[in-house]
Amino acid sequence: MNAISITGLVKSYGKVAALRGIDLTVPQGTIYGVVGPNGAGKTTLIKTLVGVVRPTSGTARVLELDPLNDKWALRKQIGYMPQDAALYETLSARDNITFLGRAQSVEDLDQKVSEVIAFTELVSRARDPIHTFSGGMKKRVSLACALIHQPKVLFLDEPTAAVDPQLRARSWELFRKLAQGGTTLFISTHLMDEAALCDKVTILNQGKILLVDSPRDILKRGKTRLSVTSRDQCSQAEIESTPEAIAQKLHEFGLPNDISSVEVEPSTLEEIVLEIIREEPQ
Ligand SMILES: Nc1ncnc2c1ncn2[C@@H]1O[C@H](COP(=O)(O)OP(=O)(O)O)[C@@H](O)[C@H]1O
Ligand SMILES: [Mg+2]
Repeated sequence: MNAISITGLVKSYGKVAALRGIDLTVPQGTIYGVVGPNGAGKTTLIKTLVGVVRPTSGTARVLELDPLNDKWALRKQIGYMPQDAALYETLSARDNITFLGRAQSVEDLDQKVSEVIAFTELVSRARDPIHTFSGGMKKRVSLACALIHQPKVLFLDEPTAAVDPQLRARSWELFRKLAQGGTTLFISTHLMDEAALCDKVTILNQGKILLVDSPRDILKRGKTRLSVTSRDQCSQAEIESTPEAIAQKLHEFGLPNDISSVEVEPSTLEEIVLEIIREEPQ
């Protein structure tokens, strides 16, 4: 069963066409990324799937339910973390999470709240009021609120925008842990390095899907600049970013023909920055 399936989805706000015919399916247990610039339609797409926005035409199904007609049945099974955290600023993190858990009629609520606080690493700040939290910490609380009823599908709208690289990396470890437990994650982002962490990525632009692929295959669409120096002679070539293309070019420089594939994996800027932070004495 697909966690999400969408056909011909259109949403217009008056004259503004936010979604212009979207088709996609998301298998259960995957981390599915929707990537696109501001105004691409990411938030509108998520709001349609959680039953906050009524589509102009087309169909959307989440766990085979209609987000509008089966709203209440669906709300028990999905979690939604909006782009702008909707929290009670004067209440503590714990009270915010408890409030949402009560609205969802969660059993053994105190115990569940403690578990979700531990999972999102909020233990030391759980009793502090939200207005004393940083932006990144608020996102954590918002995630905890979305998780309190153990949803099968989790919608996260730009969950780590404006979050520092360290907290972002920890958040992604949590996302991966959830997916391993069978939760489907539908995540919007405008950050390419974040897209690289998804199982599958949809590129959305001006309400249309440009591409659906794994991040690895998307990277193969790029070019690789190869420089080979031999006896002070430097040769350069711009080639396809595939292991086969790299090997083929290297044959010209004397690589034995029986080597059919060479892979070069440069670390990303984000990885390098994280490594520098990790090596810094605490
Ligand atoms: N409530 C609304 N009323 C009118 N236009 C809207 C509304 N919400 C979004 N839009 C427009 O729809 C388009 C897509 O917006 P949105 O879904 O928020 O994109 P994203 O989340 O990718 O930044 C934009 O042009 C935006 O201005
Ligand atoms: Mg948005």
